[in-house]
Amino acid sequence: MASLTPLEPGFAARIEGVDAACASDGDIAFVRKALIDHCVLVLPGQIIDGDQQADFAARFGTLDAYENMSGDYARGMRKDLLNVSNLGDDGKPVGPGDRRRELDMGNRFWHTDASFKPVPAHLSMLYGITVTNQGGETQFADMRAAWDSLDADRKELVEGLIAEHSSTTARRWLGFEDFDESNPAVMGRVNHDLVRELPETGRKTLYLSAHADHIVGMPVPGGRLLLAELTEHATRPDNVFTHTWQASDLVIWDNRCTMHRSRPYRADRETRQLRRASTVAPEFAACDAVGVQVPDWKIEAAA
Ligand SMILES: [Fe+2]
Repeated sequence: MASLTPLEPGFAARIEGVDAACASDGDIAFVRKALIDHCVLVLPGQIIDGDQQADFAARFGTLDAYENMSGDYARGMRKDLLNVSNLGDDGKPVGPGDRRRELDMGNRFWHTDASFKPVPAHLSMLYGITVTNQGGETQFADMRAAWDSLDADRKELVEGLIAEHSSTTARRWLGFEDFDESNPAVMGRVNHDLVRELPETGRKTLYLSAHADHIVGMPVPGGRLLLAELTEHATRPDNVFTHTWQASDLVIWDNRCTMHRSRPYRADRETRQLRRASTVAPEFAACDAVGVQVPDWKIEAAA
């Protein structure tokens, strides 16, 4: 019998009594409803291989695919799974300066999955294969509450703005410059509304991400300051849930109404091996920003 325990007021919950390897239609409906209410779910004690994880995720929507991602991310997984790991091909933690480790450092920024894609992620499901003894937590911010708690002036400023997202934005901040310019999955830029409305509830959310580069139609400095200010507002401690991993946890979140980040750990000493499947959110496909004009008062208010 499925049961739910809230972990924070109105945000994040623990579910027991659902086996992802053999979930009933009733279990899927229970999880779907819980996601609408709580946005982040922890299902402990799941024993699932990659195929079972992908099969479970596919019952919630079309799986995202990673065929255009570099081998560093795929790491031998099937195309609809991501290997989030600090292990090299020899099965040992990769050392300082290793390209894989540096790329994974991008996950330490607050972000939503695949916001740089024309069709971004809806649900992400991350499974703990090997977890750290210290550090390596995943944190989540409630982007519905972030919108709700903005003051009226900021709401008026932000509503209607569009941000341009790119998979290179966070990595450029880290100092990387050697991108594969022939790969559209790496170099593509897409636009997303900064404020969105969830179809199931009508609640508004802020759609922010470390992949958001600037505000379309606004001078870059003012737009970036606004994105930074909103991110700071959204990730105040009282708006954040921290998940400390146990092996066999399956953590599910809705990228349309959350941001998340991973916390540091000693990657030279500890092994952290997680596996992710995601579904896509076609209802929030990238928007067209050609000819977008931002009113002068907004540009001045953001600068
Ligand atoms: Fe992520």
